[in-house]
Parts: sequence; C-alpha cells; structure tokens
Amino acid sequence: MFKFTSHTIVNNNVCEIYQPLSYFASIWMVAGVMAMTKMNLFQSVTSALDNTLASDPTAVIFGEDVAFGGVFRCTVGLRDKYGKDRVFNTPLCEQGIVGFGIGVAVAGATAIAEIQFADYIYPAFDQIVNEAAKYRYRSGNLFDCGNLTIRAPWGCVGHGSLYHSQSPEAFFAHCPGIKVVIPRGPVQAKGLLLSCIADKNPCIFFEPKILYRAAVEQVPVESYTLPLSQAEVLQEGSDVTLLAWGTQIHVMREVADMAQEKLGVSCEVIDLQTILPWDTETVCKSVVKTGRLLISHEAPVTGGFAAEISSTVQEECFLNLEAPISRVCGYDTPFPHVFEPFYIPDKWKCFEAIKRMINY
Ligand SMILES: *[C@@H]1O[C@H](CO)[C@@H](O)[C@H](O)[C@H]1NC(C)=O
Repeated sequence: MFKFTSHTIVNNNVCEIYQPLSYFASIWMVAGVMAMTKMNLFQSVTSALDNTLASDPTAVIFGEDVAFGGVFRCTVGLRDKYGKDRVFNTPLCEQGIVGFGIGVAVAGATAIAEIQFADYIYPAFDQIVNEAAKYRYRSGNLFDCGNLTIRAPWGCVGHGSLYHSQSPEAFFAHCPGIKVVIPRGPVQAKGLLLSCIADKNPCIFFEPKILYRAAVEQVPVESYTLPLSQAEVLQEGSDVTLLAWGTQIHVMREVADMAQEKLGVSCEVIDLQTILPWDTETVCKSVVKTGRLLISHEAPVTGGFAAEISSTVQEECFLNLEAPISRVCGYDTPFPHVFEPFYIPDKWKCFEAIKRMINY
C-alpha cells in the first residue's frame, strides 16, 4: 500500500505531523501515484478552486477583492487563468454576496463565495440561515442551492482584535440545512473544501487564518475529497479525550505531549473537522474508552459548540464518565486586542483542565 507521509515545515509554534491517510492510499491505488507538491494552507485552497474551475465550466468565484487574489492570496492567478466572468469582485456587501450566490446556485451553477473575514459574515446571516439553509425544505425539494459554498477566514491571528479574530461557527451550527466545516492544515483544507463544493447542501467553510502560511505539506495537485461529518482520531490514548478543530487542534497535540511527559496521562486527540452535522459516533466511542472529555475552542464559552457536544456526550456516555466534561474556551467578552494571549484557550489552561479531570 502506498504510504502517505507528509513533509512539514513548521513555524509560528504550530506543529503538525500527519498520519498516513488510508483514503488517499485507496485513491492512489486506482490513479497510480498522484503528483504532489508543497503547499501551505492558502495555496491548497487555491489549488482546490483551480481544480474546480478547470473541471466544472459552471463554477464561479466571487467576493471582495478575489479578482486580484484576495487579501490572503487564496485566489491568486485564477482570474488570469479563467477570465473575469468566472472570478470577479463584488461590492462591499456581504448580504449581497450570499444572496447573489444563492441565485447563482439555484440557477444551476456552482457558486463559491468569499466573505473576506468570518467576523463580517453577520450581514449575510439572514441570507444564510433564512434563505440558503431553508431553500430546499420550503420548496418541497423542487429547488435548492446546494451548489453554494461560502469560504471565510476564521479565528485568531495574533493581532486581529475585535473584528478579525472571531470564530462564529456556533451561530451556524444552530441552523439545520447547512454544513459547517473547518480544516486544520493544507491537506484537509483542499480535500474538505472540494467536498463542500461537491456537497448537495450549502456549506460554510471556515479557514483558520493563522494557519494560512504556518506549515507546508505535500498536497496532491489533482482533485481529491475528504469525507464531511467525519472526525479524525489523530492520536490514540486511554485517559482523556481532547477534542478541537482548526487552529486549536495544534494546541491540543502539544497539550497531549505535555500531559504524557509531566503527568504520565495518555490523551486521545480528535479533530472534529465538520461542526455541522458532527460526528457523534467517533467522539462518543472515544469517551466511552477514556471516561474524560476536554473540548476546546476560541469562541466564547457560553453557547459555544463545546456546550452542544458536552450535552450530547453526557446523554450518550453518562455511565462511562469519570469526571465532569471540561470546556476550555474563549471568555464571554469581545475578542480583545493586547489581551489576546490571556483570552485564548492556550496549552496551560488546557493542561490545568486535564489535571483537574484526572484528580477529580
Ligand atoms: C449542482 O451541480 C451538479 C454538478 O455540477 C449538477 O449536476 C446539479 O444539477 C446542480 N444543482 C442544481 C440545483 O443546479
């Protein structure tokens, strides 16, 4: 079997070593060895968009500044390659961007909208939750906008302050009819984005902006997909399950190493990957084994998606729990500027939570 081993260059303290991925192995068994090249996360997003524009003549990409490459460079070169009718700028109006995207998708094309920052997705909230998410249901499946994908940079970046740091996934997780996906690195970003584009439901794809340039991996040049609604166990362990997504998964891996070294505690690390609909089975199976669950995200703790997971897990795994489920999340404040290092759920806060669970 072909073994997938990625070469990872690390900076920003974000460290990642990918496991062999068996689904790639099966793709490569069919296709022969796929061409791979080094990409960081923004380049793997560009590559996914490039594949889509090349293979699907109806695909269009639009948003603020996407024509010249986007503020994070995710659409670099695509207008020159595919023309200004397929990659184009929109007015500065998020409600308009998503409304237009719904129309494009309903009319039969593949619509890929960019919202420049997840913090600015709120003007489009009505279009997403009242129109996109309900279109199929309210037409009795006569019409749908499943070919709409909305991409947006997401999460903290070190200096983003109130309006360039937010993680709004929980707002959308409350809305049946859409999917919400967040990748942790270049290989996942490309495979999951292509799955969102192919999916028959409107999808929101949040890209951790601090990871855009953090690490480089070998990523297949051709198109491939990774399954939605499937969490990935990155490290097996027996004492505590650590659950996160996006940037926070890298913190969890570091915490798992600390717990092993300093406490002799064995942690299982799970990347949820899809927030809605989420993979309850993988998470609950792990908690039945470990008896302890720590969930961590940057978004404020109250009403964050960790609360939903915690509720489901206590329903499903009550008799297996050795300690209360622990949430280490952002505080219930606006995202701060100079106080960002105190706000984020860093490895020390997570490590303390593990100690509390073990000593419970
Ligand atoms: C969505 O895209 C697929 C693949 O291009 C196409 O077969 C389907 O008809 C599209 N859906 C709608 C509602 O246009």
